[in-house]
This record gives sequence, structure tokens and C-alpha cells, in this order.
Amino acid sequence: MCVRLNGPVPVNKTELELERVDTQYPEVACGGKYSPPYCTARHKVAIIVPFRDRKQHLAIFLNHMHPFLMKQEIDYGIFIVEQLGNANFNRAKLFNVGFLESEKQKVGGWQCFIFHDVDLLPLDQRNIYSCPSQPRHMSAAVDKFDFKLPYKEIFGGVSAMTKEQFTKVNGFSNEYWGWGGEDDDMSARLRYLNYHIERYNMSIARYTMLDHEKSKPNPKRMSLLQTTNLIFKKQGLSTLEYELVDIVHRHLYTHIIVNIDER
Ligand code: BGC
Repeated sequence: MCVRLNGPVPVNKTELELERVDTQYPEVACGGKYSPPYCTARHKVAIIVPFRDRKQHLAIFLNHMHPFLMKQEIDYGIFIVEQLGNANFNRAKLFNVGFLESEKQKVGGWQCFIFHDVDLLPLDQRNIYSCPSQPRHMSAAVDKFDFKLPYKEIFGGVSAMTKEQFTKVNGFSNEYWGWGGEDDDMSARLRYLNYHIERYNMSIARYTMLDHEKSKPNPKRMSLLQTTNLIFKKQGLSTLEYELVDIVHRHLYTHIIVNIDER
């Protein structure tokens, strides 16, 4: 590590134009990739962000994340995975797509994957975006939850897994359409394979959430969760189907556009 990382970082949540943000941060290479010029990075990290209809959030997110990540001197890339069409949002399936597609964009592949909501911004520079030996739940202390952990098994918001961990649990389930449950399903997959969830101290794992309307909860999420242990080895990354519509290398991110509707 070449620089000293201090704690709290400021957040700018004022309206920003995506096109304008895209003209900033000349140090970032095309596709939203960065590696520190004067050190050899210890971590190769893909940040995977599921996306639809949140252009304003995306501008604020990129404007916050690039300076935040550059200071951590990791080798990283930001991948925005956009779901086309009007079907219910499927966050987990977009993560699976992001995992596979981001791997094709890096010579030698990534070691670590951070699965990240676009509306969460880290508030402490010591929250290092890397993957330890166990899966890490990064967003443990979110302002919306009074900076408290809502429940012990929670794995939503922002979470980190190595390539090996993600592959062993067969990725996320593809079956969660609409809000909720898919992160609990991943938490269960990890538990069944005897992983345990790590977290930074609550004074470090702090995030602020951008405002948005609450999405409609998926009424099937509880019943789906009853079946995780029976089906996770057969359903997930191994059964993922999608149509890759386009990949665009923008300055601050790689834009992966997909159709994930069931055929
Ligand atoms: C949902 C999760 C969500 C958590 C916190 C749970 O009820 O199943 O998907 O992350 O609440 O909002």
C-alpha cells in the first residue's frame, strides 16, 4: 500500500449529469478500468452493478466510486449490467451475467467480485474492496437501517466473493424476479458449503443509500427460500441463460446490456 487511508469520506448526492461525470477522472481507462501506476496492485477486483432506469443514481455512484477505489490502489473495473425489457427486475441473474461477462474483459481474469447496488455509497475509506478468505458482507452499517445490522445472515447491498467461492456455490439463483430474497438465498448457499460471512467493524462498513421508491416485493420469495438447499447445486450459474445484446466500453464503466427474460 503506497498511500495512507484515512477514515470518513465526503459524499456528493446532488444531481449530476452522467455525460458530464463521464468527462472526469482521466486516470481511469476506457471501460471503467484502473490499475495503480506506481504500485503493483494486490487485488484484481470486478465491481458488478445491476441496473435499470437509474441514470441519476449511476452518475452519483460513478462520481463517488472512482476516486474512492483509486485511493485503495486496487486493480479494478466497474461493470454496469442493464436488464432490458419490462419484466420484474432480477438482480441476482444480472449478477450472474456480470460475473461471466466481466471475466471475458480481463486478461487472466479477476480474483475478486464485489456485487454492488447502484444506490449504496461507502462512507469510509478503510472499507477496502477486496476479497478475504471468507465471503464478506460489505454494507453492514447502512444509514437506512440506522447503521445497524438488520439480521445476522444478511448478505444484501454490497458483498464480496472470490471467483472460487462464487463458482462453488453455483452463483446466485436465477429465480428471484422482483424485490427481495435473492441475497438471503446466496447467504444460504454459502452456509450450506460451510462458509461464514465476514464483516468489517461497523465503524468501517458504513454506507449511505440514495433515495428511491420502494420496489414491489416478490411474493414468492419466502417459498423459494425453502428450496435453496435442495436445488442450489442444480440451479444458478450452471443453468444461466441470457441474450447478450451489447457491450459498450464507456469511459467510466463497461456497459453490459442483456435480455434475461425467460424463453
Ligand atoms: C430481504 C432481503 C433484503 C433485506 C433487507 C429481506 O427481507 O429478503 O432481500 O436485502 O430484507 O432489506
